[in-house]
Amino acid sequence: MLPGDKSISHRYAMLAAIAEGTSKIHNYSTGADCHSTLGCVRALGIGVEGAGTEFTIDGRGLEGLRAAEQDLDAGNSGSTIRMLSGILAAQRFRSRIFGDESLSRRPMQRIMKPLAEMGARIEAREGKFPPLAIEGGRLRAIHYDMPVASAQVKTCVLFAGLFAEGETSVREPARSRDHTEIALREFGAEVTAAGGRIAVAGRPKLEGRELYVPSDLSSAAFFLAAALLVPGSRLAIAGVGLNPTRSALLDFLAGMGAKIRIAQVESRNGELVGEIVVEHSELRGGTIAGGLTAALIDEIPVLAVLGAATEEGITVRDASELRIKETDRIRTVVENLRRMGVEAEELEDGMAIPGRQKFRAALVDSHGDHRIAMAFAVAGLRADGETVIEGAEAASVSFPEFWDVLAGISYRG
Ligand code: S3P
Repeated sequence: MLPGDKSISHRYAMLAAIAEGTSKIHNYSTGADCHSTLGCVRALGIGVEGAGTEFTIDGRGLEGLRAAEQDLDAGNSGSTIRMLSGILAAQRFRSRIFGDESLSRRPMQRIMKPLAEMGARIEAREGKFPPLAIEGGRLRAIHYDMPVASAQVKTCVLFAGLFAEGETSVREPARSRDHTEIALREFGAEVTAAGGRIAVAGRPKLEGRELYVPSDLSSAAFFLAAALLVPGSRLAIAGVGLNPTRSALLDFLAGMGAKIRIAQVESRNGELVGEIVVEHSELRGGTIAGGLTAALIDEIPVLAVLGAATEEGITVRDASELRIKETDRIRTVVENLRRMGVEAEELEDGMAIPGRQKFRAALVDSHGDHRIAMAFAVAGLRADGETVIEGAEAASVSFPEFWDVLAGISYRG
């Protein structure tokens, strides 16, 4: 069983805090990011009980948050700061929210602009970076045309819209993950989605719920890639989230020739969940561009690793967003591939990795980025010799159990 989905965990915790009554959340993500969200929710006066993966949150309704006594700490988590800001912007009190060094370099104008249109006053370092000082207040409903496809921005605006009178809507240039829309409905909000426009009705009565978080497909991705890469592998992963706005990964892998199938699909709290079975396969390679890039954004580091072992390689385009993740993932992927003797070309908006390459064991560096640490652990499996990953502990941002799970499924032949 892999940890609970990071995206869904954040949304459940935040919505549970502003719903009325108790929510029970099962299989909550063990990742540090989702615990940053729980810490913020607690600091805002909400009762959070539990440990491990099971939490109970005592929601106090739309008007129930209290000013935090200290600045809110979002840690490494872009989702925490961007999504929670939508809620903080509607409060009658002032909040300050900050993050670690990596988060302090990530752009916040993308949420500041729509929140300002709704009437919030937000100050940021150099006008765009955390910490954010948010002067909350009464918000007005808006329609916002998003310049980039970002589920975090969409969520921020829709969460803010919950507090405004009337309907708040967004239009996204490419479809992003829709966990927010599903979760909002689950808590009782009215959400409509048609033709790329998503709208939420303001001032709903949100009700506490019992919720089950599926395992994270983006965490499973590292093991899918590992099984595909290592001859003789066969792996079954149960209870994984298969939401269609996330599962492009499985279609992309199958399209390259991966022996992959899904079984036992069911719906829980509106989210599809099922088992994925994968076997080592010879892959053709492919191109990730346009809307597919947005759909695979978190999986690109490990797909780039996989690409080097395919027939024709993998090319990634339209991925400038990767440059403003926990690290500049175009640069950190290309740099580490080269350290392993793999040829990789850095493009302005992506990368090109030729196929049929060998991995040389090397010293690689996560640069503190969880997905880079895990992607290069997978690369290390295919190298002949010992690969050392500097900053390997970064995996705990989304997947603290990663190294144990990897050790548990590996064997030395
Ligand atoms: C997320 C959205 C994506 C993704 C991140 C989680 C979410 O970010 O990269 O890991 O839960 O909404 P963007 O919204 O910046 O694309």
